[in-house]
Amino acid sequence: MDRLVIEGGVRLKGEVSVSGSKNSVLPIMAATLLTDYPCIIKGAPNLRDVTTMIRILRSLGKNVEFEKGIITVSAGSRMNFVADYKLVSTMRASFCVLGPLLAKLKKAKVSLPGGCIIGVRPVDLHLKGIKSLGADISIESGYVLAKASRLRGNRMYLGGIYGSSVLATANVMMAASLADGKTIIESAACEPEVTDLAEFLLKMGAKIKGHGTPIIEIEGVRHLRGAEHSIIPDRIETGTLMLAAMITKGDIIIRNAFYQHLGALIDKLYEAGAHTTKSDGSIRVRPKGRLKPVNVTTLPYPGFPTDMQAQIMSLMTVTPGISVITEKIYPDRFMHVAELNRMGAHIQREGPHAIVEGVKSLSGAPVMASDLRASASLILAGLIAKGTTSVSRIYHLDRGYENLELKLQKLGAKIWREKE
Ligand code: EPZ
Repeated sequence: MDRLVIEGGVRLKGEVSVSGSKNSVLPIMAATLLTDYPCIIKGAPNLRDVTTMIRILRSLGKNVEFEKGIITVSAGSRMNFVADYKLVSTMRASFCVLGPLLAKLKKAKVSLPGGCIIGVRPVDLHLKGIKSLGADISIESGYVLAKASRLRGNRMYLGGIYGSSVLATANVMMAASLADGKTIIESAACEPEVTDLAEFLLKMGAKIKGHGTPIIEIEGVRHLRGAEHSIIPDRIETGTLMLAAMITKGDIIIRNAFYQHLGALIDKLYEAGAHTTKSDGSIRVRPKGRLKPVNVTTLPYPGFPTDMQAQIMSLMTVTPGISVITEKIYPDRFMHVAELNRMGAHIQREGPHAIVEGVKSLSGAPVMASDLRASASLILAGLIAKGTTSVSRIYHLDRGYENLELKLQKLGAKIWREKE
């Protein structure tokens, strides 16, 4: 197992390029199940989660090649409708093969995703949506069994207690693309990754309107063709690098970055004292004067992303004053709090709130990553801590960041990977 070791105290400077979006490429890979024709996906990041999805597509009968950021998916000899527990339990996003498998093969058997450290993550909205399209759904031995001789378009409300669901919207949108008639999804997720998936489906010949808004309309078609598509940049990786500039009081230009996808974060960083220069395809970030404490509440897009909550908390640990961070999507997503406190932060947890009292400095310490975004927040803290920080269990980081330590090294960080 690897860990990352960081010598804190370097102001990061220079230019770095962002990889393609993990949360966009995964559902787009699942969408290739909707056709027998070849699909080409460009700008795909080399991540553990992408490798897992490749293994799932191969287990479902697809031929998949992945080279230099290009994923080529083509038909194999025979499709299989069972997505196995062994693979699905390692990555929740694989549950979004349910919709395309069912739509294409009229049946699907997909393992229920296992537990998740960031919180209770049910799939009731996925099942509600697929059922509304006329599928018979049952749960047996940890698997969802779905059958439908023909899916039929329908109008449905897909909002949950925490608002819209990204992957439930994706699952239903893919299934409805091959259903009879029109489907209307109300309270659909508006995330840029949902829009990117819809763009890919449109290239395959699907009929979709309203993607990127809470009301999506899909007119089903009989068949879908192959398509070629370039993935959007990863807005969460972009956000993480913006925080790296702020926390080290550095000056970074981030290339292949869409500021249009980061409105809430840019606004919050402005409040905290950031100077951001936006241009087509790049963002320059540096602090302007003293950092200021900010209160943050995570919300569905275009609200402040939950996947940036841990990273902005790291910044607030060294910002003079009190900040209150409220997690409205995953109320228990605070595994990073204890580890940041080990580095000398003053964070108090009150249910879905974390009250952060800024301290003068953090001290380097051995800490443990518990999930993908928590690992990013510990690395940010290590970049400014006095002395050495070692972050273990970084297999969590490798799920969603492509060569993050190499990108930070390029900006001057003293960070390296070593065997535990
Ligand atoms: C996507 O997960 C992302 N993953 C997550 O990113 C991200 O945190 C999340 O959206 C929210 O933005 C991918 O895209 C692969 P949701 P998803 O369904 O779709 C509840 C990362 O760090 N809910 O939008 O699984 C759920 O429990 C990962 O890259 C139900 O109640 O999230 C949560 O509270 C972590 N019933 C809320 O909705 C359901 O059927 C939003 O979850 C589905 C979800």
